[in-house]
Amino acid sequence: MLKGKHIILGITGSIAAYKSAVLCRLLVSAGAEVKVVMTPLAKQFITPLTMATLSKNPILVDFFNPENGEWNSHVSLGEWADCYLIAPATANTIAKMASGVADNLLLTTYLSARCKVAIAPAMDLDMYAHVATQRNLAQLKADGVYVIEPGAGELASGLVGKGRMAEPQDIVSEVEALFDEKKKSLQGKSFLVTAGATIEPIDPVRFISNHSSGKMGYALAESLAARGAKVWLVSGRTALDVPAGVERVDVLSAEQMCEACCELWPKCDGAVMCAAVADYTPAVVAEQKIKKGDGDMSIALKRTRDIAATLGKEKGSRLLVGFAMETENEMTNAVSKLQRKNMDFIVLNSLRQAGAGFRGDTNVVSLIDAESRVDLPLMSKREVADKIVDKMESILEEKN
Ligand code: C5P
Repeated sequence: MLKGKHIILGITGSIAAYKSAVLCRLLVSAGAEVKVVMTPLAKQFITPLTMATLSKNPILVDFFNPENGEWNSHVSLGEWADCYLIAPATANTIAKMASGVADNLLLTTYLSARCKVAIAPAMDLDMYAHVATQRNLAQLKADGVYVIEPGAGELASGLVGKGRMAEPQDIVSEVEALFDEKKKSLQGKSFLVTAGATIEPIDPVRFISNHSSGKMGYALAESLAARGAKVWLVSGRTALDVPAGVERVDVLSAEQMCEACCELWPKCDGAVMCAAVADYTPAVVAEQKIKKGDGDMSIALKRTRDIAATLGKEKGSRLLVGFAMETENEMTNAVSKLQRKNMDFIVLNSLRQAGAGFRGDTNVVSLIDAESRVDLPLMSKREVADKIVDKMESILEEKN
């Protein structure tokens, strides 16, 4: 996809600049020709020599070469490029881009670039969450800049939150997707994906949950976003990073997940219900840690709301996809769920199949709708996600 493409890699003054070396290498290995532009501060984080060696081109930082007075033409650079990727993009550079400030070569190149522009923000969580940064990002999106969402996790400051630059491999996938028009087939559509296990509190320290890792749902969110869809990923607790281009809504209990989904549903063209939602929750959550006694104990449980069925009742012309994980009577149970929850199709995964189910990176599934059943072979969860999204796309086409 990137073979022969001209990419300007812009690097700004963030600690995440160390990842730009790997990013540059990945772009070059994918066949792209890369020229690197750095802000003066970026040189403090990664040396021009490193970037020149990896990109196989001289590094551009200043408007002109002080030794011989030769100008670095931001205009011809902007014309040369098929894509201008700024990674990492600091809050400062984002703010300047949003308001058209042009006080360094990286910014003048932005104002001259006629190509696709993508930025991968990197900053501390408070700076990222600040209303000013969010306003600037919204402005850049409105200006047609593609924003590669930062991940959540440990930041250089030691704080934990959203602001960590997306991983180089994910950035490359996003840039590839920018060039792949086929993958943009869901541009303008919005989807809700539920993922992971819910957590039902018993008391302040204990809970009921299950083995779901969230990997299948995260792969689905990634696949939908790669095709240009807006994706809300309503997620129970997982150790996974938010896929690029996806907005995660964190929840814990089934009730919280249900509330988040009901709020988002009117804005969506479809939903994939991939979460392993608890069917029962403690009837009463003890305020204090429950003390052990000599005898046995039991906990009264009450039913949770069925999120898929709740959305199914208010479905209208939207698309609803569910999952069924069965240990017996797989087909009968899956078809009954499909009907009961008003789904367009259901993805059946059997715990009996090797390579299927919880935690692993592969799955073996069947796609079942009212008329047909397609059994897919063992695939990675990301490949399974692509097959599910292919089917969603063809149903959406039929519906229109
Ligand atoms: O009825 P069962 O839990 O087996 O159905 C599985 C499907 O329903 C999955 O798509 C799951 O995400 C969804 N579900 C839900 N809310 C629940 C229970 C299941 O959305 N409370």
